[in-house]
Amino acid sequence: MSAWASHLDRRWFAVALSARVGRKPVRVMLLDRPIVLARLDGQLVTGFQDRCPHRHAPLSQGRVVEGTLQCPYHGWRFDAQGALRELPGAPPGGCIPGVRAQTVPVVEHDGLVWARLAATGDEDIPAHARMLAPENRRFLWQTTWHAHIVDALENVLDPLHTHFVHTGLVRRKGARQAVDVRLRAHAEGFEVDYAGASTQSGLLYRLFESPRETERSTFSMPGTAQIHYHYRNGSRTCISMHFSPETHDRTRLIGMLHLDGRRVPAWAVRAFVWPFIRRVAMQDSRMLALQAENSRAFPDRKDAVTRFDVVRRRLQDAWSEQRDAARGKPEDSSTVLML
Ligand code: FES
Ligand SMILES: [Fe+2]
Repeated sequence: MSAWASHLDRRWFAVALSARVGRKPVRVMLLDRPIVLARLDGQLVTGFQDRCPHRHAPLSQGRVVEGTLQCPYHGWRFDAQGALRELPGAPPGGCIPGVRAQTVPVVEHDGLVWARLAATGDEDIPAHARMLAPENRRFLWQTTWHAHIVDALENVLDPLHTHFVHTGLVRRKGARQAVDVRLRAHAEGFEVDYAGASTQSGLLYRLFESPRETERSTFSMPGTAQIHYHYRNGSRTCISMHFSPETHDRTRLIGMLHLDGRRVPAWAVRAFVWPFIRRVAMQDSRMLALQAENSRAFPDRKDAVTRFDVVRRRLQDAWSEQRDAARGKPEDSSTVLML
């Protein structure tokens, strides 16, 4: 993929942790375009294209002054709607020119700041991100992977690499079992149910889980992958991974863990579970970086996509320019995998 599909500008992406955005302007990249985020009034997050309309200096190098964002070059100040409020050097009482900084819609929810590049587009963030109760959140984490977003999304939704990349941690090589894999597609993504494996062979399962009733992974446009476990004891776990592309080879990952019906406090998750999860994430990150670097050496490459690569084509379609044409006819599929 070279240019980004045009429909992506109308989508919401998780671009920052709420806790990292304050009065000091923060620059984030989204789809190769810089955005600046700041709390101009100390509370609500405002987003702008990170470009002053005067001579295009990055507003993120400026500062917040009395509820406005001040450009570092000539000191023009913009309010939360983007209107120019002060032009240093203009005579007092004079009329301020009707110049605007380009605002970017932002929404804050459950510890995350979401942004949409276009002024109009999807009304809300993915429903699956809204559904989780913020009080059930136990963990939040952000990193960057050196990978294309489609490869990153595929990685976290693909079980077949786990025996090799996360040997022993997620699954063990010699302990495969037949699992019925059913994918249901819908207009905004898909869900994949794994049936027939209420237990998993890896250390993570044995340390922190109990027999599962259901296991489901979901993809929600444009960049949210989630893994949902419902346990026989009635509790639930959801691991969310919100991806957003900074550039074609740098992808932001924000990971979250929600527990429902389990009395494990956040500090215990951080102390005991996180070291294992971090290891898994680093293993994935390393493999994706190798994949990306190697792919660059083979510009004419073609992927071998088999029927066992359950999600690859769907993710490629979701991120392609043709997506809007394709969305009328999503098809379901099923297969058996030895996991
Ligand atoms: S470039 Fe921003 S005020 Fe001149
Ligand atoms: Fe992985």
